[in-house]
Amino acid sequence: MINNIETSVKKTINSESKTFNSLFKMDVLKGLSSHPKFLSSKYFYDKKGDALFVKIMNMPEYYLTNSEYDIFKNKTEALVHGLDINKNTDFDLIELGAGDGMKTKELLKYLDRENYQFTFIPVDISQNALNNLETSLNEELPHLSIETKQGDYFHVLEDIKTLPKPKVILFLGSNIGNLNDDQARKFMLKLSNTLHKNDKIVLGIDLIKSEDIVLPAYNDEQGITKQFNLNILARMNRELDADFDLNAFTHSPKYNEEEGIAESFLVSKIDQTVRIKVLDMTFNFYKNETIHTEISRKYNDSILEHILEHTDLNVKDKLTDSKNYFADYILNKSNH
Ligand SMILES: C[S@@+](CC[C@H](N)C(=O)[O-])C[C@H]1O[C@@H](n2cnc3c(N)ncnc32)[C@H](O)[C@@H]1O
Repeated sequence: MINNIETSVKKTINSESKTFNSLFKMDVLKGLSSHPKFLSSKYFYDKKGDALFVKIMNMPEYYLTNSEYDIFKNKTEALVHGLDINKNTDFDLIELGAGDGMKTKELLKYLDRENYQFTFIPVDISQNALNNLETSLNEELPHLSIETKQGDYFHVLEDIKTLPKPKVILFLGSNIGNLNDDQARKFMLKLSNTLHKNDKIVLGIDLIKSEDIVLPAYNDEQGITKQFNLNILARMNRELDADFDLNAFTHSPKYNEEEGIAESFLVSKIDQTVRIKVLDMTFNFYKNETIHTEISRKYNDSILEHILEHTDLNVKDKLTDSKNYFADYILNKSNH
């Protein structure tokens, strides 16, 4: 059934250019036609979502940013040492899902100060995030060589593969946690296959910890995470001419401490029908029906090992923050 819908939408969009908007339409149709319903967290990030995420990073409850910032600010030298970069070799520093680059700037400043030769290539699905990052870097590090790349990192890997210089890939902020284990395994295999021998990855992951620390990060007192989650409905209203009533849905985060998986849902408060004009379709929601919008997987060494088992990536180093909440793993590509 879903496959039929998907095929017919694919036919429709084949005649249009494969714009981001067409993919958004197709993903919304697929997600809201499924049981249970789901939407990809990558669609949180438009101009409004980017600004809300910056607010989230500044919330006292969102320990992830401060923890990883602690590593980038206070263990910069150890981090660079683990990357084994020769000062005379030109390399590409590629960040997948760069966002506002707040932590990366600590590394960039160090590399710049120490005269390393590199080009910084931030990749993000949000052009707005890239524009903001480029503007701020032009001010803070005017000599930095920077090339932004807009796109979904799953697709951008194809282009990255063709870059000839040695590579250091940054995949920070527990971005990998937004993939389920099966997606993470496939992604890391694809990433491993885009690299050459001795290229490196810095993988930032949130470590499994207790519910009293994790859950407030996705359910803050001020309601910023709630606004962030609801923004995906507001985005469909703006871009797909939908008529979601934001007051008729609520934000519901959950955390399973044993598995180390946090998830966010939107829950319909009432029986309701929503029209999405651009799709020329209506979708029914019953009272208490959920839309799954985000997974935030937490890790430990053995889960990571399992994710990497079919890749040519080996853990070379592991740096943690002072509270042991977060880890940046340095992975080495061992074969061609
Ligand atoms: C949780 S934020 C983390 C930002 C930054 N890496 C950090 O650690 O602060 C996720 C970022 O990745 C981007 N993003 C999310 N899904 C993406 C995808 N599939 N492809 C490319 N960028 C994506 C978002 O636009 C956002 O800037």
